[in-house]
Amino acid sequence: MTPQTGDQPPRDLIFPEGFLWGVSTSAHQVEGNNTKNQWHEWERQGRIKTGEACGFACGWWENAEADFDIAQKMGLNSLRLSVEWSRVEPRPGEWDANAFKRYRAMLKGLCERGIKPFVSLHHFTNPMWFEREGAFLNPSGVSHFERFAVRVVKEFGDLCSDWVTVNEPNVYAGMGYQLGEFPPGLRGKTLSAFKVLGNLCRAHARAYRAIHDLQPNANVGWAQHILAFTPGRPHSPVDRFLCYVHDELFNKSFIKMIATGKAPFPYNLVCGDLSSAKDTCDFVGVNVYNRAHVEFDLRWAKTLFSRIFIPPDLPQGDHGVEAPYGEAFPQCLAVAAQYVQGLKCPIYVLENGVPDRDDRIRPWLILEAVRELHQLVEQGFDVRGYFHWTLTDNFEWSEGWRLRFGLYHLNEVTLERWARPSAKLYSSIARHNGLLARHRSEASQLSQSESVVKSAGL
Ligand code: BGC
Repeated sequence: MTPQTGDQPPRDLIFPEGFLWGVSTSAHQVEGNNTKNQWHEWERQGRIKTGEACGFACGWWENAEADFDIAQKMGLNSLRLSVEWSRVEPRPGEWDANAFKRYRAMLKGLCERGIKPFVSLHHFTNPMWFEREGAFLNPSGVSHFERFAVRVVKEFGDLCSDWVTVNEPNVYAGMGYQLGEFPPGLRGKTLSAFKVLGNLCRAHARAYRAIHDLQPNANVGWAQHILAFTPGRPHSPVDRFLCYVHDELFNKSFIKMIATGKAPFPYNLVCGDLSSAKDTCDFVGVNVYNRAHVEFDLRWAKTLFSRIFIPPDLPQGDHGVEAPYGEAFPQCLAVAAQYVQGLKCPIYVLENGVPDRDDRIRPWLILEAVRELHQLVEQGFDVRGYFHWTLTDNFEWSEGWRLRFGLYHLNEVTLERWARPSAKLYSSIARHNGLLARHRSEASQLSQSESVVKSAGL
């Protein structure tokens, strides 16, 4: 079960001055009408499991400012968004001045509200022309990406200096080329997945250097998804070995590429020379949500003969269309911090959240995550910010509108928003730069799931 709070009286947990309290988003999920990328094509092929369309998403292209106002009212001091490559470069080498104008207005809007923008350059979507050329499976993808990165930084270097080159290279490669859940929808193409990861590493490194040439003080990193793995049968050597394998392949491979400039085994068999990637990060972002329970099972070839499951008594958000989303596991923050420690650079939690339409366990999750983070800061980890995923419900990729991660509920037809109880809690944490003792009792009143709250010792 979830660890207990213990008998110690609660104390205020205040963070270092300047700590960033933000929310995270990505272009395709919030802007609406992104019709020139491969996710739009995926949707047209009927691959969204709910059959839904992204449509106007959260209406950001017309009015992202509605959410910026909310973020400002909440007292947040940072917000992560992404630039949609297919909007600014709809055809190779052709740039759309109006798209740049709109992004400029958005970034200005954030700065005017006292909100620091973190800008991601790649968050799962590719322009269709790039996808047709094989995207990151094609070695020329690296130069295309670099050209795009340079152009964006030239346009917006006066408004932003915090850049996330690539979001979750491990998820992009794994979901698209191994599990077939994301475009291009390939299954079991393990070597392709490895090559894609290697090329993403090169693309990141090239962008890192190009950004620094343009903006010497830039703060450049990437966002690494980290999933905690635990053996389904704790004493089974096979389950434990499988956890080790998943950890190495999924969690640690890209981190090692950046830390050493070398692809670890078995990536080294196909990735070639990555020496230019060594130490190309000024910070590392970690995206942290879940824990997976792993049991050896011959029927699950596509997940390396691992059945991934969640024991029913553990905290979970809402169920996806075909499978559970995962065990909500705030302690994964500590796992992530340990894994990236060797990079010796500041850490930002660039995503953390739970799909929870009714706000059953989100208040608990926020509280636990912030407590976990504070512990890490006290232990000397250089954690500089926490970005909750997400501010307003948005389009959750292949799960459509089904999974609701927002602090705010969104009616995707009318675009009306209203606050879930956890918005108030998170806002108060941001305003006080930490967790006050009283937040715990407030959160336990907010949380509607008695059993989870009790198990968390609230
Ligand atoms: C992705 C987001 C996604 C979130 C929730 C992350 O892996 O970066 O785009 O919405 O998880 O599933």
